[in-house]
Amino acid sequence: MSTSGFQTADAGFIDRAHAVLMQNYGRFPVQMVRGRGSELFDSAGRAYIDLFAGFGGTVIGHAHPELVRAITEQAAQMWAVGNQFHSLPQVELAERLARTAFAGRAFFCHSGLEANEAAVKLARLRGLADGGKRWKTVSLIKSFHGRSLAMIAATGNPAIREGFGPPVPGFSNVDPMDFSAIEHAIDDETACVIMEPIQGEGGINLYPPGHVGKIRKLCDERGVTLIFDEVWTGVGRTGRWFGHQHFVDEQGKIITPDIMTLGKALGGGLPVGAMWARPELAKLLVAGKHGCTLGGNPICMAVSRTLFDVIERDGLVARAERLGEMAMSFLRNSTSIKSKVKDVRGRGLFIGVEFHDEPVGLLERCLDAGVIANITYKKIVRLAPAMTISESDLQQGLERFAKAASV
Ligand SMILES: Cc1ncc(COP(=O)(O)O)c(C=O)c1O
Repeated sequence: MSTSGFQTADAGFIDRAHAVLMQNYGRFPVQMVRGRGSELFDSAGRAYIDLFAGFGGTVIGHAHPELVRAITEQAAQMWAVGNQFHSLPQVELAERLARTAFAGRAFFCHSGLEANEAAVKLARLRGLADGGKRWKTVSLIKSFHGRSLAMIAATGNPAIREGFGPPVPGFSNVDPMDFSAIEHAIDDETACVIMEPIQGEGGINLYPPGHVGKIRKLCDERGVTLIFDEVWTGVGRTGRWFGHQHFVDEQGKIITPDIMTLGKALGGGLPVGAMWARPELAKLLVAGKHGCTLGGNPICMAVSRTLFDVIERDGLVARAERLGEMAMSFLRNSTSIKSKVKDVRGRGLFIGVEFHDEPVGLLERCLDAGVIANITYKKIVRLAPAMTISESDLQQGLERFAKAASV
């Protein structure tokens, strides 16, 4: 077994994986075998502090005892049940969304992508109802909305469309920070604007004050549905239950979308996605208009419902805000990386560290040092640890990261 540097997986195992798995992910030669809280352990017995929480999925860590109990109890009770029947965990999760977000109704699926597809379909239903002609979507440059044919058209990064032929029509990407560009992109055929409250894949990009309120007002004036893709920002990690709750109008009222989409953290690491829409829109999605065979299955719902209960009971949303401030302050003041870092930004435990130059080999050095991070747009490191990470693990993880980045 090779344990040199960050390559800890057995070469024979990697060959075996390559023989049967597609190579669509840039995988490190590391085989993870176990997770506990914010730590992951590989096949060589090495421990890593996970500062990226499985791309945001394991938002309260690995093997949280209450999630383990919820999944075990529900598995013994009832697995999947066709959506021609009601089941309690689905209703209980939707009730938690109603309590923590805005008045709405839920559609459950498995992923962020599916939630976004459902949202655009619902916006089209509204736009085309009663002889309307609104069917197009305006989205933002540097956004990310998923990998289906429609969502790669919505995603504001042409590279992810390359090789897949003509893009699905009806999608245009505009400068996220330029209000007049957004205003001009909306025409009589626009059904919806889709945007992330904080752009995640785009590099943890925050909007200037007042910007989102202006977009909300514009959508209201033009009869356009506003969709917030909260796949990254939902379920507490930004220091609010949902990222949009950071946006308030002049009266201090939270600026809400018409539809919010969720994924990643919603299942605590299980595949759960959701579209949450205002009741007046939700009622357009009548029987037969959309569906998902295993969407809302009791096991996923029971885990997600319990996740909400744990986050609420343990005050993890406020904790994420506090730990995020602590982490960003450490990253801004760390002398070993100060000269290399252009900007540290984010909200709560959703943090971007932008480097002046591409930090070549940084993720590998992080692995070697026992910490997991991520890079987007070549120069922006993203950190998104679990909301349950202990202060000492966070501190140690940041120190390991800073050391790896100082080279
Ligand atoms: C903002 C956003 N929306 C949608 C998606 C797609 O989610 P999924 O990978 O669950 O389909 C992602 C994935 O990273 C995302 O970051």
